[in-house]
Amino acid sequence: MSYNNFLHVALLVLTCLEAVRGQARIVGGGTTPIAQNPFVVNIRDNGGKLVCGGSLVDPRFVVSAASCIKPYKANQLTVQGGAQMFSNPGVRRKVDRIIYPANYDNVTLDYDVVVLRLGNELTGTNIGTINLRTTGVPVGANLKVLGWGRLSENGENSNALQSVLVAAISKNDCLQSYELTPTMFCAKAPGADACEGDGGGPAVLNNELAGIVSWGFGCARPNYPGVYTSVAKVAPFINQAISNNS
Ligand code: ARG
Repeated sequence: MSYNNFLHVALLVLTCLEAVRGQARIVGGGTTPIAQNPFVVNIRDNGGKLVCGGSLVDPRFVVSAASCIKPYKANQLTVQGGAQMFSNPGVRRKVDRIIYPANYDNVTLDYDVVVLRLGNELTGTNIGTINLRTTGVPVGANLKVLGWGRLSENGENSNALQSVLVAAISKNDCLQSYELTPTMFCAKAPGADACEGDGGGPAVLNNELAGIVSWGFGCARPNYPGVYTSVAKVAPFINQAISNNS
C-alpha cells in the first residue's frame, strides 16, 4: 500500500473511532427523569442559552459554581426547575442576588461555589430540595452527575436531562493530572464525565449533594478526571449565605 493510501486508511479508522466516541452522552451517560432528580435546575441567560447547572437546596436558594456565574449579573439569569427537557417551560424564577464566597479564587478555582437567591420560591411538580453532604467523599464512591451540557467534548448540549456515574479517586491519583486545592476532589469513569454546560450542577451521593461540577481538561479524556468542589468543605459558606440573605 502506498504511503498516501496508508494515510487515508489511518484517517478513516480515526474518524470511525471518533464517531463511536461521539455517541456518548452528558458524556457517556443517559437520559434520566426529572421526577427522580427534582433538585436539579438549569440556569440560562436572557437569550435562553444554557449558562450552567445548579441544585435547589432551599425553595429560594440554588447552589452552583462561581466559575460559571461570574460573567453574569443577577438580572441576566433565570433558573428553570421541574423540566426534563431544556426546551420545556418548567417553572422559571429570576435570580435576584448572587452570593460569592470571599475565598473564591478565579485562577486556581479554589472555593468554586456560589449561592443564587431567587425572586420567589421555586416550587411545583417534580421540584424539591436536596440536603448538603457534610462529610468527605470516600475514594471509590459512585457519584451521580446530572446536567444538560455537551454530549461530547466538542458536541452539542442535550435537550433531555442526562445522568452519569463516576467514581471518586484519591487526591494523590488526581495530582498526577492536575494541581488541586483543598476544596477540590476528582472523579472519573471510562468514557464518562461532565462537560461544558454541566458546570455548577450536582454530583450526588446517597441522595445528598456531595460535589459541584467545577472543571476538567476536555471531557472524558482518559488521563483527565472531572474536578468537583467538595460540598463538605464549602457547606459552612452555603449555610451562612442562606441565613444571611433570607
Ligand atoms: N467549567 C465547565 C463548564 O462549562 C465544567 C466542565 C466540567 N468538565 C469536565 N470535564 N468535568 O460548565
